[in-house]
Amino acid sequence: MGLPAKIVAVANFKGGVGKTSTCAHLAMSAALDGYKVLVINLDSQGSMTSIFGGRVADEWGTVFPLLAQHFATHLQADNRLRAARGETPASLDETLTEALKLRACNLIRKTHWPNIDLIGAQLNLYWAEFQIPVWRMQGRSWKLWDALSDMLTADGVLDAYDIVFLDTPSALGYLTINGLAAADIVLVPLGASFLEFDSTGRFFDMLHSTFRSIEAGENIAARALGRDELAFEWDAVRTVLTRFDGAQQSEMAALMQAYLGRTMTTQRQDFTALIGQAGEQVNGIYEADYRDFNRETYIRGRETFDATYAAFKRLLLGVWRRDELAAVK
Ligand SMILES: Nc1ncnc2c1ncn2[C@@H]1O[C@H](COP(=O)(O)OP(=O)(O)OP(=O)(O)O)[C@@H](O)[C@H]1O
Ligand SMILES: [Mg+2]
Repeated sequence: MGLPAKIVAVANFKGGVGKTSTCAHLAMSAALDGYKVLVINLDSQGSMTSIFGGRVADEWGTVFPLLAQHFATHLQADNRLRAARGETPASLDETLTEALKLRACNLIRKTHWPNIDLIGAQLNLYWAEFQIPVWRMQGRSWKLWDALSDMLTADGVLDAYDIVFLDTPSALGYLTINGLAAADIVLVPLGASFLEFDSTGRFFDMLHSTFRSIEAGENIAARALGRDELAFEWDAVRTVLTRFDGAQQSEMAALMQAYLGRTMTTQRQDFTALIGQAGEQVNGIYEADYRDFNRETYIRGRETFDATYAAFKRLLLGVWRRDELAAVK
């Protein structure tokens, strides 16, 4: 269609809700469906990177240098203004200078899936959570939440793919905020248990207040300068029920559906023994050999993840259709 890739962030600050499994299976399904997919791992635990066989030596193989470069570029622009005012420019340290030499395409690696490329993660990526606020202190007008989307756009990465999946950590830190700000579609996996429902509710509250406060801070300046105001928008935000056990959780799921309404996809991703059992070399259902499993288990596991993808694809096609209609207007 010639439209840039849709960015899909899978997020929830509750741990173990199925973010990585959902994200990895959606990426694989989309690739099998013929889409060109980029997976970006924003979780320093790197599970997604292992699933796609990536080996990352240090933070220089992660998105870290892209964020650094975004800040370095901001600092350079700021320095030009300082020079014009006759002030001393801020110096760029070694990290920032190095980061300026990199391009996003240098960080993208191939995986054993022909249609899936990866920007991996590794423990050192966690350093970004400490470094980003320090940079922000140095450059108060740096729009840190734009870093990831700007960098992916600048290097033409979004034009080279159909879908970009972001696997985020179980925290609403700076990396997650960057991922969510870059996203067009946000998927929030959660299980049908009271604890997960409750904590997901708090995740949405935090999300709302975090992005509201970023907007508020920006818009004081924007109004003063007569610039357009900032308003974060997503094409779609959906909760996705994961690890569903129909025998035990039907009531809870119905209750959640009543509360969440259209923001919850009606498809329920069943709990399947296929995921936990898949061995070291096998990373998910689409890589599993059906002969290794009980026939029923295999078929049901396969069906439930196929259905998770089908529900996602309906959402995605709707979003693309809206963009297409908007483009011809
Ligand atoms: N549909 C499913 N059926 C059975 N087990 C599942 C299913 N989805 C995920 N799991 C299992 O649940 C556990 C947590 O899943 P996953 O790692 O995807 O969650 P996460 O939200 O990414 O966790 P983290 O917060 O650690 O990043 C894993 O052991 C995974 O194998
Ligand atoms: Mg995870």
